[in-house]
Amino acid sequence: MAEKTKMIIEKDFKIADIDDRLYSSFIEHLGRAVYDGIYEPGHPNADENGFRKDVIDLVKELGVTTVRYPGGNFASNYFWEDTVGPKEQRKKRLDLAWRTLEPNEVGINEFSKWAKQAGSSVMMAVNLGSRGVPDALNLLEYCNLDTDSYYASLRRQHGDKEPYGIKLWCLGNEMDGPWQVGQKTATEYGHIAAETAKAMKMMDESIELVACGSSGVGMPTFGEWEAQVLDQAYDYVDYISLHQYFENRAGDTADFFASLDDVDEFINAVIATCDYIKGKKHSKKTVNLSFDEWNCWYHQSAEDSETMEKKPWGLHPHLLEDHYTYEDAIADGLALIKFIKHADRVKIACLAQLVNVIAPIMTEHGGAAWRQTIFYPFYHASKYGRGAALKPVMKTGTHKTSKHEDVTDVEAVPVYNEEKQQLTVFAVNRLTDESVPFEVDLRGFEGYKVVDYQALESNDMLAVNSAEEEKVKPVTKTDYTITETGFTAELKPASWNVFVLAKS
Ligand code: AHR
Repeated sequence: MAEKTKMIIEKDFKIADIDDRLYSSFIEHLGRAVYDGIYEPGHPNADENGFRKDVIDLVKELGVTTVRYPGGNFASNYFWEDTVGPKEQRKKRLDLAWRTLEPNEVGINEFSKWAKQAGSSVMMAVNLGSRGVPDALNLLEYCNLDTDSYYASLRRQHGDKEPYGIKLWCLGNEMDGPWQVGQKTATEYGHIAAETAKAMKMMDESIELVACGSSGVGMPTFGEWEAQVLDQAYDYVDYISLHQYFENRAGDTADFFASLDDVDEFINAVIATCDYIKGKKHSKKTVNLSFDEWNCWYHQSAEDSETMEKKPWGLHPHLLEDHYTYEDAIADGLALIKFIKHADRVKIACLAQLVNVIAPIMTEHGGAAWRQTIFYPFYHASKYGRGAALKPVMKTGTHKTSKHEDVTDVEAVPVYNEEKQQLTVFAVNRLTDESVPFEVDLRGFEGYKVVDYQALESNDMLAVNSAEEEKVKPVTKTDYTITETGFTAELKPASWNVFVLAKS
């Protein structure tokens, strides 16, 4: 048994209210996310629009608040006009990002209805790769305006009388990436982002805008890119984006769990850059962070490259269909704890992605929809992680891994939902071979008792789920002890733990 972890929870130690959009996700026109994913006409569970009701039920179960759409890399050569109106007149297009044939059977008309059915709002991307200001304005008018002008009238003509009212918009995607159609320098992107944002807000001042940060913390552009882009666009944008994917290619679980600490460094660096520009501009406004792509992504990379290289221009090929392991679920749980701890500045976080493509939900053609291992930490966080993030005052042991020093054994965060009078503690034991005694002192929460304790526990780090069997799923635990000051429990090695407390 490892050193004990002690946590003190005080109501007044508030980090910030958690923005519900911390539990967002992402659907890109990529592989089988849309076609053969959310949309499969002819499937026994499809509705009259071809959308699978069983998939919608799982999205609702996850509690996804906002869905980013339509990309991703796909957005950089996106011709939105081809995706609307009578389906038989829509043009088929080549998607250069994923070397796929895009039939445009699902476009904004359909997707906005799907999102509504799924209980989510849409976070829409404009194409700042191969297009620019006029196209972004036309799309915004089509989606949000009720005027007598051309594009708003066109939407009505297409049968959608009410505007979609999309409040959150991405100004392109990963524009510093060499893989992007229309890659830009920071100066070029900063200019087009500022001009597009300015014009979009002239048209609809109720919207919020996300400027592209660098596509990754490891990019040579990182840091200077954020500073230059914000230097030009600061006054017009509300968020800057962060993208990060985690991987365990080396098969080193301890270091994989430790690598989630890199998320903290990434977030802190971007906050510092935003605030540097704020100071430099003597601005009163604060630009916050949109972590609009995060997840584990590494299992299928070799197969995906081969598919795109050797069998290009197919319809909805199997791409990025990572089968997630038990340890991937723990890594995702750690990421969620990191986001909650940064709730004061991270306002949006999109699990990339949602269905079939690096996704918590998988579908079989003509068959079942099922939950991957990574479904569960998101499900728990989305269900119990609403309210105020509280500062975890913690004393925990530390350890060293192959590439990380001073790694805390336990990562944890409490969330207080005042309305429901509910307190939840999320905790991960990162030690792979030892349990950790966990002692929680509920100082500011007199009378609160554990009413539910759910955990993911396994000795098999590589266990995966399938349509036939959910090897990895939460277990309800009763082996905790209510003490005079709070409660104690034993966190099993490499486990995800959710303690739900209510006033007795
Ligand atoms: O989520 C998959 C891809 O990862 C996205 O299209 C892109 O933005 C990122 O590189």
